[in-house]
Amino acid sequence: MKLALSFILLLPFLSIVVAENVTYDGRSLIINGTRRLIVSTTIHYTRIMPEMWPEAIRLAKEGGANTIDTYVFWNIHEIEPDIYNFAGRNDLVRFVKLVQEAGLFLMLRIGPFIGAEWNYGGIPVWLHYIPGTAFRTESASFKYYMEKFVTYIVNMMKREKFFASQGETGPIILAQIENEYGHLQGFYGVGHNYSDWAARMVVSKDIGVPWIMCREGDALDPVIDTVNDFYGDYYHPNSVNKPKIWTEAWTGWIQTHYEPVFHRPTQDLAFAAARFFQKGGSVINYYMFYGGTNFGRTSGGTSANNFAVITSYDYDAPVDEYGLLRYPNYGHIKEFNEAIKLCENPILTAKPTQISLGPQQEGAVWSNVASGECVAFLVNVDDKKDATVVFRNASYHLPPWSVSILPDCKNVVFNTAKVSSQTTVPEMVPEDLKPSPEQCMEENDAGGDSSSSLKWQVFEEKVGIWGEPDFVKNGFMDQLAATRDTTDYLWYTTSIDVNENEGFLKDGSQVALELQFQTHCLHAFVNGEFKGTSTGDATIPIVLKPGRNDISILNTILGLPSVGPFFEWRRGGPINVKLAGFRNGTVIDLSTSSWKYQIGLEGEHLGIYKPETTNNGTWKLPPQVPKMKPLTWYKATVEEPSGNDPIGLDMISMGKGSAWLNGQQIGRYWLKRSNRVGTCVGHVEECDYRGQYARERCTTGCGEPAQRWYHIPRSWFKPCGNTLVVFEEQGGDPTRLKLSKRRISTVCASVAEDYPNLQGNATVHLKCPKNRHISRIRFASFGTPTGFCGSFKKGDYHHPDSASVVEKACLNKNGCAIQVSEESFNKGMLTGATSATMRLAVEATCGSSKGNLRSQMTQTN
Ligand SMILES: *[C@@H]1O[C@H](CO)[C@@H](O)[C@H](O)[C@H]1NC(C)=O
Ligand SMILES: *[C@@H]1O[C@H](CO)[C@@H](O)[C@H](O)[C@H]1NC(C)=O
Ligand SMILES: *[C@@H]1O[C@H](CO)[C@@H](O)[C@H](O)[C@H]1NC(C)=O
Ligand SMILES: *[C@@H]1O[C@H](CO)[C@@H](O)[C@H](O)[C@H]1NC(C)=O
Ligand SMILES: *[C@@H]1O[C@H](CO)[C@@H](O)[C@H](O)[C@H]1NC(C)=O
Ligand SMILES: *[C@@H]1O[C@H](CO)[C@@H](O)[C@H](O)[C@H]1NC(C)=O
Ligand SMILES: *[C@@H]1O[C@H](CO)[C@@H](O)[C@H](O)[C@H]1NC(C)=O
Repeated sequence: MKLALSFILLLPFLSIVVAENVTYDGRSLIINGTRRLIVSTTIHYTRIMPEMWPEAIRLAKEGGANTIDTYVFWNIHEIEPDIYNFAGRNDLVRFVKLVQEAGLFLMLRIGPFIGAEWNYGGIPVWLHYIPGTAFRTESASFKYYMEKFVTYIVNMMKREKFFASQGETGPIILAQIENEYGHLQGFYGVGHNYSDWAARMVVSKDIGVPWIMCREGDALDPVIDTVNDFYGDYYHPNSVNKPKIWTEAWTGWIQTHYEPVFHRPTQDLAFAAARFFQKGGSVINYYMFYGGTNFGRTSGGTSANNFAVITSYDYDAPVDEYGLLRYPNYGHIKEFNEAIKLCENPILTAKPTQISLGPQQEGAVWSNVASGECVAFLVNVDDKKDATVVFRNASYHLPPWSVSILPDCKNVVFNTAKVSSQTTVPEMVPEDLKPSPEQCMEENDAGGDSSSSLKWQVFEEKVGIWGEPDFVKNGFMDQLAATRDTTDYLWYTTSIDVNENEGFLKDGSQVALELQFQTHCLHAFVNGEFKGTSTGDATIPIVLKPGRNDISILNTILGLPSVGPFFEWRRGGPINVKLAGFRNGTVIDLSTSSWKYQIGLEGEHLGIYKPETTNNGTWKLPPQVPKMKPLTWYKATVEEPSGNDPIGLDMISMGKGSAWLNGQQIGRYWLKRSNRVGTCVGHVEECDYRGQYARERCTTGCGEPAQRWYHIPRSWFKPCGNTLVVFEEQGGDPTRLKLSKRRISTVCASVAEDYPNLQGNATVHLKCPKNRHISRIRFASFGTPTGFCGSFKKGDYHHPDSASVVEKACLNKNGCAIQVSEESFNKGMLTGATSATMRLAVEATCGSSKGNLRSQMTQTN
């Protein structure tokens, strides 16, 4: 009320207020003269569709953020020197404007090297081929193009008055130059010269807001050095006059095609975040908040082993790849953010006083004598045992590895280990592909002819050189040097003559193709036949015939390296190719033979994934769809699945390749099964979050395909006539493809009486997604239930009215709240005195809304 009033009173003067620059001191950022606590969340505009931007920003704000963070992705913007693209998904200005309209701040991490598991770390490939260029070092051409791009972006933001220093609504409060360079400086051997140059260069751009460098302990004043890590509390900037900024608090982790899914239990993220503020932090950014998708060919490789990152960039983030809230992650962090906000003033006015509360128990107190405000954090770092601590004459129970937040130094409103938030269980509901008319009919016929079955058109790639070879060379050429990243694919082919007297021809003994490749995946063919697939070194048994034998290798690179010293020079392709097993013991080295090269696939060159090429004769309609056939393109015209649920293309029947809808590349797919890494569990709740986190500590999906479903944004579909194209490299069955709907069908909660919340009462909150309602209570127990969502069991104590109380409160509603106390249930029914803390556990089904049900019924009638 007060706020609204003062806003109205000030309104007439706002236009004449001269905005102040954003400044800082050792405590915090100071924006327009006011200290601010910054709670930021990362959303990459390139990884979600523009249609989703407003919703993504809204979810961030509702989740307690006051700032959005994004990188700027140089290689999608400057596609050729001085040729820029800021359209559609690249429309940075539009994204910033939406952040501004939502009343949020923005942290703009320009890079322009960004890493980010993005192709080539965000640097354009063309820059590598400008003679004399070496990335991220004292290379005149690198520095020239880097400064030019940074200036381009800065000017673009200035033109829009986007810097907070330019007016009262400018959202940008921080800008980043370079990215995680500090630990690589040594490899480049240029001392501080490059990073100092970068710092001076950006400071000269006069943007009126601070520049930061993450993971760069040597950042030159006034640039602020910041931390990216699972924990940020230990970090100290290189000057006491710089605030403590955690640019990347990792909410989860990236996934490669070789690994299972890594999870970070939300209790540990909340613990880490609380510890950061306890130790004097004032700016936190959750990376990622909404990870999204590496559409097309945008994903990059990671670290020195050059592992390929999957198409999903889900990151186990609070909002999942499909835009659905992931609980409890979203709910728990939202509650933490709200608790921290209650503490904003005291936290910002003083450095915390650290106190000891036991051998492994400690705390921080911010006490403002003048205002009487007081905030305390109570911490138990013991990773096994509970603790009871006494603070200001009151006693507090602390679970292991937890922090309690007391915004008044008295009442606990949040404990990082006590998750009151519900848990959601997403499902992929399969739907068969339905044929669709190429053109939309009258409205009545829009459903198409449902009796006709889906028709798959086919185009078969030739094995090896499909046209004129692009070039012929003795020995091997690096894949990137050959393709310049115009395609994932490069054919290497050669031939060998086998003497008809050769022993193995007579006794049938085996010959082997010995391959040593720097690659993500290659496919080997002999005399036109598929012989095997490998992710690096392989010995593939083959059969040769007398006379000429053709050896063809299709090498595939799933994204260029994105990180590591001199990553742009890392080679790809063959290192050695040999033939072993000739009877006389000779190993024939083909590495210096004459090799023919063909860049890309014929289908790529013909652009057959584009809907326009429908009738130009390349596609054939075979009487029988070929299955398990390598190097095959498939195409069908499909219907958009009904409803609004997000869509994932289920590729379980396929091997490896790429897919398109209406000419837009969904991404690369690969159904390779992941390795076992760390402790693999069936359910994240089984993970022990207590103690220092490492990604191996909580994984799911060991031995399953790293990614089975591939997100197709709803906005890519047309009302009818959707062209789905799949290129399969190894062999698959397209007739079993499905467009699955992602849906939250189960919500659970398990809250004990002593779980604090901002309202002061332990409460179970259940909420189905929009337009859905709680249709069934599958489990409810007030007492001492055990287990996890999906496997709850009654304990020694169980209140007989549990189900009826929950049903009364929740059935047929979108959401409901039930206080976890004996008052909510009939008193006295729990016979037998117990000192056990009571808890309420509920598992509920989210059904389609009543309105929808009715209309579905009338439709079928
Ligand atoms: C900036 O600060 C001035 C002076 O304190 C104040 O009048 C003005 O409303 C502030 N502007 C915004 C956007 O907060
Ligand atoms: C840094 O630059 C200075 C000035 O050009 C030069 O003298 C020095 O050798 C450089 N340091 C390194 C490690 O390259
Ligand atoms: C803001 O910063 C710019 C660039 O450093 C400077 O030119 C300007 O005077 C500053 N404005 C204020 C109000 O401090
Ligand atoms: C704690 O209790 C002692 C003894 O009763 C009292 O002197 C002291 O003021 C109390 N401290 C606080 C912070 O209430
Ligand atoms: C072994 O066989 C290969 C292939 O026929 C031939 O090129 C080579 O000269 C033979 N080596 C010897 C030692 O006979
Ligand atoms: C089919 O279309 C592609 C791309 O538009 C073109 O390059 C190709 O020549 C066409 N093929 C035929 C047989 O017309
Ligand atoms: C907490 O619950 C109790 C019992 O239902 C009620 O009396 C009290 O008002 C509640 N407190 C708050 C802050 O809602």
